[in-house]
Amino acid sequence: MKEELQKVILAAREEIMQCRSLHDLMLLKSRYTGKKSVLNGFMKKLGHLDPKERPTFGKTVNLAKEALVELLTQQENTIKEAQYNHALASQRIDLTMPGRRQDRGSLHPVTLARREIEDIFVSLGFDVAEGRDIEDEFHNFDALNTPKDHPARDLSDTFYVGGDVLLRTQTSTVQIRTMENYAPPIRIIAPGRCYRNDNDASHSPAFHQVEALVVDKGVTFADLKDMLNVFVKKMFGDEIRSRIRPHFFPFTEPSAEIDMLCVNCRGKGCNICKGSGWLEMGGAGMVDPHVFEMLGIDPEIYTGYAFGLGIDRIAMLKYNIPDMRLLFENDIRFLKQF
Ligand code: DAH
Repeated sequence: MKEELQKVILAAREEIMQCRSLHDLMLLKSRYTGKKSVLNGFMKKLGHLDPKERPTFGKTVNLAKEALVELLTQQENTIKEAQYNHALASQRIDLTMPGRRQDRGSLHPVTLARREIEDIFVSLGFDVAEGRDIEDEFHNFDALNTPKDHPARDLSDTFYVGGDVLLRTQTSTVQIRTMENYAPPIRIIAPGRCYRNDNDASHSPAFHQVEALVVDKGVTFADLKDMLNVFVKKMFGDEIRSRIRPHFFPFTEPSAEIDMLCVNCRGKGCNICKGSGWLEMGGAGMVDPHVFEMLGIDPEIYTGYAFGLGIDRIAMLKYNIPDMRLLFENDIRFLKQF
């Protein structure tokens, strides 16, 4: 029986030492040292021995069991350590590695120009009004005194969504929405996107305008001229002044086109101003009394001026951008420069 015990112990040691998983080790533990274990089996067989040998053999079995328990604990620690080292090696974070670069966006030149325009007019006491891109014929044409047969209403100029719903062709719509909702005195600008069926180096089907409307008692054409001058000087520098030329718009009387001194040659004539020394910026005028009447504002009491400027043009001049299409291609290499 002693030899049998020896064999069992040797086998057990071998198996324990070779065990590599905690689960298998648990099974070995119960097989060799548990209640129904092989070693307990020997204890039960003590009765078959010579009574004199029983105590020594019992003691031997107990010592063997203790030794196995000790070995199991050791092996458990060895396995745990190996697993820990494996985890360390496979999940290691190298803190000295350089981080992954995150591309940072930048503001679009049109956004930069719009914000600067807003800041200038807000500093002059204007509120920033918001309109809507999808409009109706009433706000885009009728209320702006535009005759039913006006060519601007044509399908080839205006994007119709359906029925009398359209993409606004001008921010002048916000003049109407403002006067519908607020009584004078009014002093707003309205920057926003407009849409026309146009596409070439200086026209994009979606473009940006900023509208201005001032309505109060005693507002004059001189106030309009002054405001335009103040704006171009703040935007482009003190040497730049504006001028106006007679023109026609259905919703203003008198109407004018606005130019400013060429920011490149300052009036001498260059390729940017096509030799004229002046750059076109938009339209302006005194609000037509008929527009006031349609909106319930008494033209005997109130007068007003309005103007609309192209923001894209302003951004191109401000940031030296030669082709309007660059503004809308969204090429990251171009946009990153601002
Ligand atoms: N809405 C006109 C256009 O897009 C520009 C314009 C002209 C705006 C005269 C005005 C104005 O406010 O008074 O061509």
